[in-house]
Amino acid sequence: MVTSDKLFAGSIPEIYDRYLVPLIFESYASDLGGRLAKANPKDVLETAAGTGVLTRAMASRLPESAHIVATDLNQPMLDHAKMRQSGKGRVEWKQADALALPFKDQSFDAVACQFGVMFFPDRIKGYKEARRALKPGSHFLFSVWDRISENDFADTVTEALATVFPDDSPRFLARTPHGYHDAEQIRADLGAAGFTKVSIEAVDARSKAPSPLDAAVAYCQGTPLRNEIEARNRSRLDEATTKAAEALARRFGNGPVDGRIRALVITAIQ
Ligand SMILES: C[S@@+](CC[C@H](N)C(=O)[O-])C[C@H]1O[C@@H](n2cnc3c(N)ncnc32)[C@H](O)[C@@H]1O
Repeated sequence: MVTSDKLFAGSIPEIYDRYLVPLIFESYASDLGGRLAKANPKDVLETAAGTGVLTRAMASRLPESAHIVATDLNQPMLDHAKMRQSGKGRVEWKQADALALPFKDQSFDAVACQFGVMFFPDRIKGYKEARRALKPGSHFLFSVWDRISENDFADTVTEALATVFPDDSPRFLARTPHGYHDAEQIRADLGAAGFTKVSIEAVDARSKAPSPLDAAVAYCQGTPLRNEIEARNRSRLDEATTKAAEALARRFGNGPVDGRIRALVITAIQ
């Protein structure tokens, strides 16, 4: 992982929340929120909460008495999440690195993390921290993306950008969000962190946007792929976005677009 892969700041949080969340995160947040609610936890910790799509899904499913602490490494993502959250006191927001959680041992009945662990520079350390924060017998629920070839729009955008920067193509999407999908590796990392009961399920969904340009803006401008494009040539961000939109239009049409997405949803018991 390169350093800029974990930088969600500047105009990224706003574009992420507006374009990328409805495109790929909302349906998985609804699924994970439902799974978590079944365990009926009282104290929930969320790591890598981003702009709060899973936080909102959990808040709408858990009883009023449940307390949710939502954390993220990047304060600008949490600022955006806070703005979007209705109801006072339902959620406590706190900036925190998932690899060094500022909580006592055995503080939570559940830990949830949607599409965050791929960004951890040391996943075993992140898993150990989640395990330390959990009460005995409670659940760590998280998700990762499957390989990029199973995720149509991300794959198409990555191929298109290779034509814009042929000598040094931006590989953020393949390298980081889609770079940790080997179920055996995930089991081994969880085992190394002390989790013994682990289940991993592939979950398919559809990714839909009103136009190819909306999907291109989501990926090229609302994720750290933007940092990677701008590092090559700041003035070529619009051109790169247009090329990605053209490639999406060639494959999925000029109107509303609809593509495959696949995630792995993991449950590990403390
Ligand atoms: C793809 S986003 C997922 C956000 C949110 N869970 C969602 O589903 O929309 C990845 C998030 O991981 C956060 N992140 C990256 N490294 C982190 C770390 N070491 N600890 C906590 N959060 C981290 C980023 O700030 C970003 O908000």
